[in-house]
Order: sequence, then C-alpha cells, then structure tokens
Amino acid sequence: MEFGLSDEQLVLQEAARRFSEQEIVPVAAGFDASGEFPREVIAQAWELGLVSTQIPSQYGGLGLSCLDSCIVTEELAFGCSGFGTSMMANDLGLMPIVVAGTEDQKREWLVPLAESFKLIAFCLSESGAGSDVAGLQLRAEKDGDSYVLNGAKCWITNGGEADLYTVFATLDPGARHAGICAFVVPSDLPGISFGKKEDKMGQRASDTRVINFDSVRVPAAQRLGEEGQGFKVAMQTLDRTRPPIGALATGIARRALEESLQYAGERKAFGSPIGGFQAVQFMLADMAKDIEAARLLTYQSAWMVDTGKRAAKYSSIAKCFATDMAMRVTTDAVQVFGGNGYTKEYPVEKLMRDAKLMQIYEGTNQIQRLVIARELAR
Ligand code: CAA
Repeated sequence: MEFGLSDEQLVLQEAARRFSEQEIVPVAAGFDASGEFPREVIAQAWELGLVSTQIPSQYGGLGLSCLDSCIVTEELAFGCSGFGTSMMANDLGLMPIVVAGTEDQKREWLVPLAESFKLIAFCLSESGAGSDVAGLQLRAEKDGDSYVLNGAKCWITNGGEADLYTVFATLDPGARHAGICAFVVPSDLPGISFGKKEDKMGQRASDTRVINFDSVRVPAAQRLGEEGQGFKVAMQTLDRTRPPIGALATGIARRALEESLQYAGERKAFGSPIGGFQAVQFMLADMAKDIEAARLLTYQSAWMVDTGKRAAKYSSIAKCFATDMAMRVTTDAVQVFGGNGYTKEYPVEKLMRDAKLMQIYEGTNQIQRLVIARELAR
C-alpha cells in the first residue's frame, strides 16, 4: 500500500495550492460579503486546468482521475469553498455525459467544454424532491423527435451562470425510478428562465437558483441513456462526485485548523499563549486527527471510483464522515477564537457557515447513512 502522491499529483497539488493562496484567499471575504459570482477567477482557474478536470483526454480534456480531482478540490476549498463548489460543480454537471453519453454525444458536448471556458450545471433537485430523486416531477413529454420539458428545478449550483445543463425529467411521475430520463440542455433554449440567486448562509460566492422549464423543446438526440435510465445515471454520477465533496470538506477543515493554530500561538490568556493550554491543544489535536481520517477516506473512495469498483458505500462514507468532520472542526475553530471567532473580523465564522452546506448538498448526510446501511445489507 502506497500512501504517497505521484510526482504529477504533487505538481497538480502545488499548482492548485498556489492558485488558491494567490487568487482565492485574498478575495474570498469580499465575495462572501457581496454574494457576487467570481466568474473571472473561475475562468482563470479553467485556464490552469483546475476546472472540468474529469473530461476524458480523447475528448480534449485533461482526463484527470477522481483522486486527482480530490487533490485539486481540497486546495481550492482551502481558499474558499464557495469558489470550490462552483468549480467542482462543473465535473458534477458533465459527469452524466461521461457516464451515459454515446460516442457522438461525448464528442458534441464534452469537446466544447474542454476547448473553452464554459459552465455546466447538474439539474436534479426539485422543491418537493431533494432527497427523494424518484419523486421528481419535471415532465418530459415525447413529441415527434423531441421531448418537451415542463417544471422547475431548485437549489441548482451555477444555475444562473451555466451554458449547459444536465437535466433529469420524468415521462410519468407515477412510474417513479422507471420514468426518469436524463438530457443535455443548452441554457439558452426558449422557455428556460431562472430565479434570483439564493441568499445563502454560507458558500455565498457560489450561484444557487431555481430554474424554470416552460415548454422547452429538447431533441431526442440529447437524451443520455435509454428512456427510464435517468435515475441510475444520477446515482452513478453521484457515486463519482461524492469523493470530491469529501475533499472540499477536508479543505475547509484544514483551513480552520491552520487559522486556529496561528491564533492559539498569538492569543494570550493568563499570561501565556492559549495554545500552551491542554484544553486548546486537545481541540487542535482532535481537528488534526479527524482531518487526516477524512482525507484517507476521501482518497480511498476516489480510488474505488478510479479502479472501477462498486463505490457507492465508500463515496457515501467519505462524504458523510468528511462533511460532519468539517462541521465539528469549524465549530471548534470558532471556540478556539472565542468571542473574536463569532465576529466577521476573523475568518473562522465564514468557515463554519460554509461547512454547514456540506452536510446538506450532494445528498444529505442522512441519505448517505441510508446508502451505507443499504450497501451493508446487500
Ligand atoms: N448505482 C447504480 N444503480 C443504483 C445506485 C447506484 N449507486 N443506487 C441505486 N441504484 C438502482 C437500484 O439498484 C435500483 O435498481 P432496480 O430498480 O433495477 O432494482 C434503483 O436504482 C432504485 O434504487 P433505490 O431503491 O435504492 O432508490 P430509492 O428511491 O430508494 O432512492 C436514494 C435512493 C439513495 C435515496 C436516492 O434517491 C438519493 O441518492 N437521494 C439523494 C439525492 C442527492 O444526492 N441529491 C443531490 C443533488 S446534487 C447537489 O446537491 C450538488 C450541488 O448542488 C453541488
């Protein structure tokens, strides 16, 4: 068993770390306050090969592995998870094409994503169907050589910024799983509109919106997989994209630890730095051990994906463990900072707000436990 990264992965990690420290850290608080979308910074990251990392090389992409993508994502999230989510969401958006696209569809949709900076959003959740994917209601009605989409998606990352969407719709809501189809949909088709950017607690730089589909006509050639396979396409996608969520959470927590270490060395109480007190040392030690464990689980789940093994259990374990860990670690970081930690003058309250979303999106941690339990029972 080899725990070291390859030379190529170390170079990739260093590039992502430098970008994060130089381009994201200095501006993150400003974007958090304004809620603006950092499109230019993300475009710059794309130029460096840090966005859409998992487009296979035969379609012009970098062909990075899930593990490579986790390495990059941890670094970006160290700078700001709002930025990290916006970038990681492109691999989520394009993954249904990788998973279920025909050769022609991959050439048509992946090559342009590799050639120029574009965003693609994954449109699965609905206001009444977040955890219960099979309960989604967005209708796809067959009409000649097209499908007509009607309904709305909710909480869509990059919803107002994306050039393309991968959309999950049902031919028959009563058929649940068996009725769902996946489509590639350009965001400028007539009938598509989106709501206002959600005013979120954390990860405020990332763009999250409702998207409305009002009689949107999509050619049948843009359906991914067979009719009724959309549910499995969504699940296979999430198996591959939950490890990077573990990496995002690890990045947030690592930042919280580094900020806490520095503060504990400077802040004095009872005449000496608080880092000298065992009460604080133990909190820092717990943070460090939990971060290491989360990273190992994340890498292991990415390895399961990269080696083509059944990854569902491991992806859910990594996502659930790492994101619960990030919530704990950032909460403890605020505790280390005391009263200062509760103010916007210091960076840790943002980390705690940002971490909360990690337990909710890409499948709540209750759903991850459900997946793990079902896999155990298989
Ligand atoms: N791979 C392949 N097939 C799978 C699968 C997987 N991982 N998981 C399930 N399936 C198959 C099952 O084998 C079953 O197949 P058969 O019908 O042939 O037997 C079928 O799919 C139905 O499976 P279940 O009975 O397990 O389905 P369910 O309705 O009970 O739901 C669930 C399962 C796990 C709860 C699922 O609905 C789920 O994952 N929900 C969470 C959704 C989610 O994660 N949303 C995130 C949105 S994206 C986002 O948040 C990102 C962002 O903004 C950044």
